Amino acid sequence: MKKSTKLFMALVALFIALSPLSISAQRSLEDIKEDGKIIMATSADFPPFEWTIMEDGEPQIVGIDAELAQKIADKIGVELEIQDTSFESLVTQVQSGRADFVAAGMSYNPERENVVNFSDIYYETTTSFVINNENVDNFKVQEDFNSAKIGVQKGTIQEELAKDTFPDAEIVSMNKNGDLVEALKTGRIDGVMMDTIVVSEFVAQNEDIIQPVEGLEIKLGDDGFAMITNKANEDLLAVINEVLNETIESGEMDEIIQKYIELNSSQSADDAESTEE
Ligand code: ARG
Repeated sequence: MKKSTKLFMALVALFIALSPLSISAQRSLEDIKEDGKIIMATSADFPPFEWTIMEDGEPQIVGIDAELAQKIADKIGVELEIQDTSFESLVTQVQSGRADFVAAGMSYNPERENVVNFSDIYYETTTSFVINNENVDNFKVQEDFNSAKIGVQKGTIQEELAKDTFPDAEIVSMNKNGDLVEALKTGRIDGVMMDTIVVSEFVAQNEDIIQPVEGLEIKLGDDGFAMITNKANEDLLAVINEVLNETIESGEMDEIIQKYIELNSSQSADDAESTEE
C-alpha cells in the first residue's frame, strides 16, 4: 500500500470512529416512526411501576411505567416493545441506542445526566428501609444500620446512598428486587433500602414477614422519577415530556398510580388464596 493510501485509510477510520453515528447508533424520532416500533427498556421488578404478571399463560409487563410508555407510543403512532433487563444496564442501553428510552422508576441524578437526557420528573419519592419482623427491636433509627448487612439493587441511587451513609456496613448488591426481598425474608441480610413506594408494595405482599422501619426515610433532594433518552434524541424527549405533563395535569397520573397499586394488592390477595388451597 502506498504511504498516501495508508494515511487516507487511517483518516477514514478516524473519521468513522469520531462521527456521532458510530458513537451512538441511536434512532431519531423519524427512524422510530419509519420502523413502526419504539423500544422501552426497564427492569420489571419494581411494583407498582413495573412487574411481570401471567396473562393467559403468557408473562406480561404491567405497571405505571408500562402504561405511560404505551401512551408515548400511541402519541407517536407506533407499537411499543418492552425489553426487560438488569437495572444496572439501563443507562448504557439508551446510550448505545439498543433502547429508545427507559421508564424504570429511575431517579434523576446528575451523574446519569452526564451521559443521557432526563425527562421532567413524574413522581416524587424518598428512600425507606425494610426489615424482617423478627428484628423490629434492633433496627429503629439510621445508626442501627451502621454495621448491618444492607441489601440494595445494583446500579441504583440506593446503592450509592448506602455506601456513602454506612461506610462500615456490609453492602450486598443484587440485580433484582425480588431477590433482595427473599434474602431479607430468610435472614441473609438485615435490611433493604428501596424507594418508599416500592417498599410499601413489597411489604403489602409479605406483611407476615417484613415491615418498613417506621419514621426512617432519606430524601436526597432533586431525585424524583424521570425517563431517559439518548442525548441525541431531543425530539423524542419533547414527546415524552408532552405526554407526561398532559397526564399529570389532567389528573390521570394519580388514577394510573392508584390503579397499579390496587392491581398489585389484588394479585397478592390471589397469591394468598392460592397458597391456602
Ligand atoms: N429509583 C432508584 C434509582 O433510580 C431505583 C430504581 C429501580 N428501578 C427498577 N425498575 N428496578 O436508582
